[in-house]
Amino acid sequence: MENLNFSKKDFLFRSPRIIFGKGKISLLGEQSRAICEMDTNKKINAFLVTGKNSLKNSGNLEKILKNLNEAKISVYVYNEIEGEPTTLVINRGKEIAIENKIDVIIGIGGGSVIDSAKGISGLVTNGGIVEDYHAGKRSFDKPGLPFIVAPTTSGTGSEVSNNAVIIDPARGIKQSIRGDKMMAHIVILDPELVLSCPKKYTAFSGADALVQSIEAFVSKSSNYLSDIFAIESIKLLLPSLPKVVNDLLNIELREKMMLGSFLDGLAFANSKLGAVHGFAHPIGVKHNINHGLICGLLLPYVMKYNVELEHVQKKYVYITDIAVQSSIIDEVDLKITECPNGIKDKALWIIELIRKIFERCEIPLHLKDIGITEEDIDDIVKDTKGSSLNNNPRDTDKESLKQILLNAL
Ligand SMILES: [Fe+2]
Repeated sequence: MENLNFSKKDFLFRSPRIIFGKGKISLLGEQSRAICEMDTNKKINAFLVTGKNSLKNSGNLEKILKNLNEAKISVYVYNEIEGEPTTLVINRGKEIAIENKIDVIIGIGGGSVIDSAKGISGLVTNGGIVEDYHAGKRSFDKPGLPFIVAPTTSGTGSEVSNNAVIIDPARGIKQSIRGDKMMAHIVILDPELVLSCPKKYTAFSGADALVQSIEAFVSKSSNYLSDIFAIESIKLLLPSLPKVVNDLLNIELREKMMLGSFLDGLAFANSKLGAVHGFAHPIGVKHNINHGLICGLLLPYVMKYNVELEHVQKKYVYITDIAVQSSIIDEVDLKITECPNGIKDKALWIIELIRKIFERCEIPLHLKDIGITEEDIDDIVKDTKGSSLNNNPRDTDKESLKQILLNAL
């Protein structure tokens, strides 16, 4: 493999306290108490943000409530998160948290739940509503409420990122609120919580994680440290994703996906993403398409656009070498030709391999397969902007963005 000398050395590293391991969710009660810095006899009020049904149906909600009650923590369960987070659900959550004199926010669920919990924690102490903060209009100057998260999917990396992506239905937009003070204080990564994640969401969130690690790796803001996380993330995700979608109860694969997703979160939180995520926001909100699905669909087309740059080719070849050394080709029949020689050919080969992995995840190959037509493209391009696009390794303009989408049609 090439030496890691193709990204800049400067970095600023952000990370919460991380607890990783099977069964570690049992530490939730004691960690919640510790983070509030309250003596052992004082009652604590927790606000548990979670999805409508999944935590309950998996049987984990009951165990978690018992664990919190044993630590003398009373819990308000806010299970209003359905689909992607909205301004309405977060603004309402903040009001209820204030009314109930909440001491600690706990987010247990997928990326939407964690992003919602992040928004609520920040708004309770900083005041106002999401709309005041959307797209950097106002910043979170004060630390949020003590805040713990435990993901139940492996993919978004939201547990370690300092932003939350929120839809404003009134304005028909999807934008980030961002700030280091919004980061979770403690992250509990328990792979047993992910065992009940269904095939479809395992595939889509896993695809999102792989897209993010690759975009972070080639991002204009990538650096020495983010490269290390991105590479280790790709080493875990690339061989595990095509296997786990057909072996959902395999705890070793779930562990690898969870670690890979966490490392990917550290990578992009410290380097930013690329054009796939620039496109994903307007497409997600306008066409109501799952985030992981649209990211997986678009990645090969964006990689083909970026592959013209020599330094990007080198990084793609680095990923090719990871794929070849992982023996993924022998273990999972992805129906791909042998890896060629030559930098550009090797770079193109990994794009094809990734496309095959996403095919295994039942991600469609073309935009028309998800109902997007040529008439929609100008509108999508108009709304494709933001820091992700600015960090894409190859510069883009309206014409090149349009061409990428036409290729994906
Ligand atoms: Fe993503």
